[in-house]
Formats: sequence, structure tokens, C-alpha cells
Amino acid sequence: MKYINLGKSDLHASNIGLGIMRMNQLSVSEAAKVIETAFDLGINFFDGADIYGEGQSDTIFGQALKETGIDRHSVYVQGKVGIVLDNRRSHDGLVFGGRYDFSRDYIVDAAHAELQRMNVEYFDSLLLHRPDPLMEPAQVAEALDTLQTDGTARHFGVSNQNPYQMALLQNSIHQQLLINQLQFSIMHTGMIDAGMHVNMTDDRSVDHDNGVLEYTQLHNMTVQAWSPYQYGMFEGVFIDNPKFPELNTMLQAIADRYDVTKNAIATAWILRHPAHIQVIVGSMNPNRLKQIVEANKVELTAQEWYDIYAAAGNALP
Ligand SMILES: NC(=O)c1ccc[n+]([C@@H]2O[C@H](COP(=O)([O-])OP(=O)(O)OC[C@H]3O[C@@H](n4cnc5c(N)ncnc54)[C@H](OP(=O)(O)O)[C@@H]3O)[C@@H](O)[C@H]2O)c1
Repeated sequence: MKYINLGKSDLHASNIGLGIMRMNQLSVSEAAKVIETAFDLGINFFDGADIYGEGQSDTIFGQALKETGIDRHSVYVQGKVGIVLDNRRSHDGLVFGGRYDFSRDYIVDAAHAELQRMNVEYFDSLLLHRPDPLMEPAQVAEALDTLQTDGTARHFGVSNQNPYQMALLQNSIHQQLLINQLQFSIMHTGMIDAGMHVNMTDDRSVDHDNGVLEYTQLHNMTVQAWSPYQYGMFEGVFIDNPKFPELNTMLQAIADRYDVTKNAIATAWILRHPAHIQVIVGSMNPNRLKQIVEANKVELTAQEWYDIYAAAGNALP
């Protein structure tokens, strides 16, 4: 395993973290096995959110972590708040919001509730899950001060925010934003496409994210890549998916070269970016986790990285 410091903090986290969004589908003992396997592989970072499994993922994680006997201080636990759940739009524990809420009381209450469910005493980092257009920056500032002072969270970050949203927030709060968690995978490359198509007129020249990857590098923030093996928004896994024959052929050829699996190569492709992205994987399968962390045995050449990008259907100008 390799470790990176998150933002400018002293949080020395594994470059592959485990997301617990899908943990609600497991029993406590199954979840304990997943956590134990991850920990034994060197994963020391766990990413939750109050909405995962409608809160059930937090609860199972908290109970399972206790069952493993792993010292809470030897791992980092991250929470996320700010999405008000809409149960009607939720399915299979993959949940969606009815609205976003960055008001002071909502953030504080949601963070306290998540911490209680996880039963971990404090969050190493707490993220604001999705930007709320009705955000009053001064209210967020009060909320973060409260949560830091009362010991709920040591550090803060955001998720799914563009540079101006981060700058606006950073201008009002007293803590340094450490993290921006964003969707990024071989099949979700908006953050890099536009940079290669500057001044062009094709679809990929449209910058949907306003240079978010460059902004995080400039401001020493860590990008956490969510859903590293999915295409679309939870449409499915691209690995071994007949919809993507060229990509899978390329991943397999490179996997054979390094004697690892396609999941490892898909992970290594994200890790190869010089921004030192942390990959947040969602597998609840101990064997797959073992395969995934083998990404750290691989240092893709620049040509391999571009070949994978091209095999995913991307053209260079
Ligand atoms: N900030 C945000 O807005 C946001 C949004 C979504 C997610 N997240 C975070 O990101 C984490 C990861 O998200 P995710 O779970 O969507 O990511 P993921 O790691 O891309 O997907 C995991 C899912 O893909 C399956 N899978 C992986 N490789 C496979 C293969 N080769 N063949 C078949 N199935 C395969 C896994 O099954 P197995 O369990 O069988 O391995 C699991 O169901 C979440 O837990 C959460 O912490 C954040």
C-alpha cells in the first residue's frame, strides 16, 4: 500500500480508501470481514455518508469496526452530510436527495447524528456532500466552527464542487478545505477531457467542471475519486461489460503484462495522475479488494495511460 497526506494535513491515508455506501447490504459479521481484509491490506481510510443505505451503512460500519477489534485511532473515518434524503428516489441502498441543505443547524445536527450512528467519537474529516445553491457561507462557517470545537470533526472538505464554489466557501470558513470528492474513472473523465481540448469546438472541449482538478492541485487539496469502476451515475460496472469491448481488451492486455487484474489496472490508471488522487472503492468483496490493491504494484507508462484513455472511446485533438 502507498500512503498520501490528505491536503496539507497530517492525515497519512492509504491511496486507496474503502467507501461504505454499499455496506448496508451486509450483515455485521460480513462487514467486519470486509473491514478486516481492507485493514490487513493496508487500507486505513473509510468513507461514509449519512444517506448511505438511509443511515444503515453507518450503523453496520460502526458495529463491524468494533467487532474487528481494530483500534479506532489506527484508521481514518470520514463522514458526509448536506443531502436531505428522498426515500422515494432511493433504490438498493443507492440513495438520492430530495434537496441539499447547508444551513447551520442542518449541518450540525446531521453530523452529530451520523457520528452517533458510526459510534466512532470523532470524524477525521467531514465533507459537505453536494453543493446547495441556497448556501449562506456564514452559516457554514458557524457550523464548521461548532463541529470542530465540540470535537465532532478534525478536518473538513467538500464533494462535487467546482472551483468557484470552493473559493466562495473557503473565503468564509476558518478551516482549510482538504478534500474534494468527485466522480472519476476511465469511463468518467470530464475533469481531464476539457484540458486536452482547449480552444476546440467538439463535445469534449466543454469544461463542465471549470478546471476543478487544476484548482485542487493549485490549492494542495486531495481529490478523492468516487465510483472508480462505474460508468454513468451507477449505471453499472464497465469491467467485463460487453458494452465496452475495446476497453476491456486493452485493460486485459495491460493486466497480463503486470500479472494483475483489470480492476487493478483501472485503479492504477487513476493513481497514475500526478494530482495524487485517492481512490475510494466500493467493493464489499474481500477477494476483489485484494486484487484492487495490487494497483500499487503497477506504475503505468504514459503510453499505457493514453492507450487506456483511447480504448475508453476518447479521441485526442
Ligand atoms: N461523493 C459522492 O457523491 C459519492 C457518490 C457515490 C459514491 N461515493 C463514494 O464512493 C464509494 C465507491 O462508490 P461505488 O461503490 O459506486 O464504486 P465502485 O468501486 O466503482 O463500485 C463498486 C461496485 O462495483 C462492483 N464491482 C467492482 N468491480 C467489479 C467487477 N470487476 N465485476 C463486477 N462487479 C464489480 C462491486 O461489487 P463487489 O462488491 O462484488 O466487489 C460493487 O458493487 C462509495 O462507497 C462512496 O463512499 C461518493
